Amino acid sequence: MNRLSSGQLPPSLTDRFGRRHTDLRVSVTDRCNLRCGYCMPLEVTFKPQDEILTYEEITRVVAVATRLGIRTVRLTGGEPLVRAEVDRLVRSLMAIPRLEEVALTTNGLLLAEQADRLARAGLTRLNVSLDSLAPERFQAIARRPGLDRVLAGLTQARRCGFRSIRINAVSVRGLTEREIVPLARFCRDESYHLRFIEFMPLDAEAGWTNDTVLTGATVRQLLESTFGPLAPVQGGDPGQPAVDYDYADGCGRVGFINPVSQPFCDRCDRLRLTADGQFRNCLFSTAEWDARQVIRSGGDDHNLAQLLVDCVAAKEAAHGIGTSQFQRPDRAMYQIGG
Ligand code: 5AD
Ligand code: SF4
Repeated sequence: MNRLSSGQLPPSLTDRFGRRHTDLRVSVTDRCNLRCGYCMPLEVTFKPQDEILTYEEITRVVAVATRLGIRTVRLTGGEPLVRAEVDRLVRSLMAIPRLEEVALTTNGLLLAEQADRLARAGLTRLNVSLDSLAPERFQAIARRPGLDRVLAGLTQARRCGFRSIRINAVSVRGLTEREIVPLARFCRDESYHLRFIEFMPLDAEAGWTNDTVLTGATVRQLLESTFGPLAPVQGGDPGQPAVDYDYADGCGRVGFINPVSQPFCDRCDRLRLTADGQFRNCLFSTAEWDARQVIRSGGDDHNLAQLLVDCVAAKEAAHGIGTSQFQRPDRAMYQIGG
């Protein structure tokens, strides 16, 4: 195993399969103001506040990770905007030398109120999760209302200067088929970059089976029957899990993230920090590395760096969904961070 002596930091977080890790997903809370069935249970007990990392603790972890080669951070939840003053965290992360990007993934409900503050804090990029444009369908999927607030949030984010906003839609068979074409039409009209994500076995109610995955290929066929042939974009960003396509009429682009039907583990560059301070090397990892314990027992930055190096060293080659060895993680999506 890679050992760090004091004063020395390894050049990069490279694992035994040669993958370099440059992206850190940071969950700031397990709380959420929606209850999407693919992510959360309806009745939920959240972590007590004292088990959640403070903004100062998160900033310290990210600073150490940046010295090891992390270059982009994505803030997630739960829903990150339900935690007070996330813009304060964005601002302190943006001050870390060599950190190039701080992005945020939100369900958009609180975006109208916070977009201005987030923009002024220097947030680089926004991803908004949105599965339906019909209020009653939105509510059926999210198990709470809120579509009008998401749409207001999108408009306000634009007004505050956010460009190239991405919209993420989860695809669940039997649930989201009818939302696909209206979402695509809306995103073409409004110039949002839409991406469909296959349903992964990270729902809290263990309803996932292979049959519930609406694959990217099926969604693409559905889009093509309405909008004509989609052409794969050449030379896309290899670090991005999304495969992008251009519409035949040249109006816009649509992406597919297919973690189940086309795993991209071989080029994974991500690590994760949960809201309660655990490093994970994969959404599907069954082990965690306890950064909170290191911090709160007086560990120094080298101890934290070593923990992250150990976490990377233990990373598996692939998630193995669909194989007999696959084991669902104990945590659901809202407890990890998407
Ligand atoms: N499978 C795929 N995507 C999911 N998300 C939440 N749960 C799942 C799941 N089980 C998505 C959210 C959001 C992102 C953070 O993860 O919709 O876009
Ligand atoms: Fe909340 Fe996002 Fe999970 Fe939906 S997917 S319940 S919006 S954290």
